[in-house]
Amino acid sequence: MLKRTVMINGAKTTFVADAEEKLSDVLRKQLGLTGTKVGCGSGECGTCTVILNGKLVRSCITKIKKIEDNDEIITVEGVGSKDNLHPVQIAWMVHGGAQCGFCTPGFIVSSKALLDHNNNPTREEVRDWFQKNKNLCRCTGYQPLVDAVMDAAKLVRGEMSVKEFWKKIPEGASLVGSSLPRPSAMAKVTGT
Ligand code: FES
Ligand code: FES
Repeated sequence: MLKRTVMINGAKTTFVADAEEKLSDVLRKQLGLTGTKVGCGSGECGTCTVILNGKLVRSCITKIKKIEDNDEIITVEGVGSKDNLHPVQIAWMVHGGAQCGFCTPGFIVSSKALLDHNNNPTREEVRDWFQKNKNLCRCTGYQPLVDAVMDAAKLVRGEMSVKEFWKKIPEGASLVGSSLPRPSAMAKVTGT
């Protein structure tokens, strides 16, 4: 068994786990960070993506023996919260990026990492990023996800305010048959 003390979402956290255990299992089962989802469990779908020392990793194929003391891990819970949403989370809601929502935490974490590294990507660069990091979505066809990242980048660069962004939704519009955020969107983008 290995004992590790790491920073997870800014909080000092100590855990004990088998060297061969998956990071996704420690996060979810031991530390209660269930925002990180496990889809394929074999590194192919990106839904378990977290940031480890500034780099994206798929936590389902990251063994605990690869984690060192003082490593920094960011999960979807550390990207933003209901009262303090990250631009990517807001954009995901406005663009209907969270349909079934299963892929959403992985995309949110991945998009945050992209914008941390490049806050003015082209659409092509966004698509390449998702492809490179194996973020898969079966519901959306990717276009709303790329739209969301492009708008989130505008928010990050300060070219649009959050208020202006929400105004994209017409006042009094009906939810049925519309592209308005689903009632469950907030929970999906924050991993709750
Ligand atoms: S669950 Fe980790 S890549 Fe699919
Ligand atoms: S929203 Fe369903 S898989 Fe992406």
